[in-house]
Amino acid sequence: MSSTIDSYKKSFKKYGVNPRALKWHSEKAAKQRYAQIVADIDFENKSILDVGCGFGDIIGFISAKTKYFNYTGMDAVGDFIKEARRRHPKQRFIIANFLEKPTSKKFDISIASGILNSNVEDNLNYRKKIIEKLFQRTKYALVFNMAGSHLQPRTKKISNVWFADSLEITEYCFTLTSKIILRNHYHKRDFTIVMFK
Ligand SMILES: C[S@@+](CC[C@H](N)C(=O)[O-])C[C@H]1O[C@@H](n2cnc3c(N)ncnc32)[C@H](O)[C@@H]1O
Repeated sequence: MSSTIDSYKKSFKKYGVNPRALKWHSEKAAKQRYAQIVADIDFENKSILDVGCGFGDIIGFISAKTKYFNYTGMDAVGDFIKEARRRHPKQRFIIANFLEKPTSKKFDISIASGILNSNVEDNLNYRKKIIEKLFQRTKYALVFNMAGSHLQPRTKKISNVWFADSLEITEYCFTLTSKIILRNHYHKRDFTIVMFK
């Protein structure tokens, strides 16, 4: 896990304030994912925890459809939070590793965009563990995206990314709730899941 965080620290050193530091291929690729994250959720008057918030760029997508919301961004990389605070001075950000210090507070909505892509030890269980922990702390809806697909060649060989089977992940989510939206249509190798309480 810490190697995942270390790799983000390294990529910030290499790319600086740039979507590539967050390991997005481009700004367009990042925005394509944010549009999916916000599509099905009503954020009005809700508290929001954005785990692995990076530069907090999802905020623009939330505020475009929401008058009032209470946002908290969390990231383990201080340099990302510094830039997030500069870009969004009115929002709240904390430096923390969700796996080591998961917040005890519950939020109406939890967001996890881009934190479930890395190639780590025990990939499937790593993803399940984070989804479970996040959903436990969610009062209304959890939304996350992930690299992967179903019935597609699993990968071009990209060693730092692990491509999940979207059906396998969806089946796991169904063990936690029956209210699920799977968005599997916008990209060949990325999908988004919304889980409602
Ligand atoms: C691909 S970037 C996405 C950033 C942002 N969510 C976005 O969509 O633009 C993944 C982010 O998750 C953070 N991250 C990964 N695992 C984390 C953890 N366990 N706790 C806190 N942050 C984490 C990384 O530092 C990085 O900023």
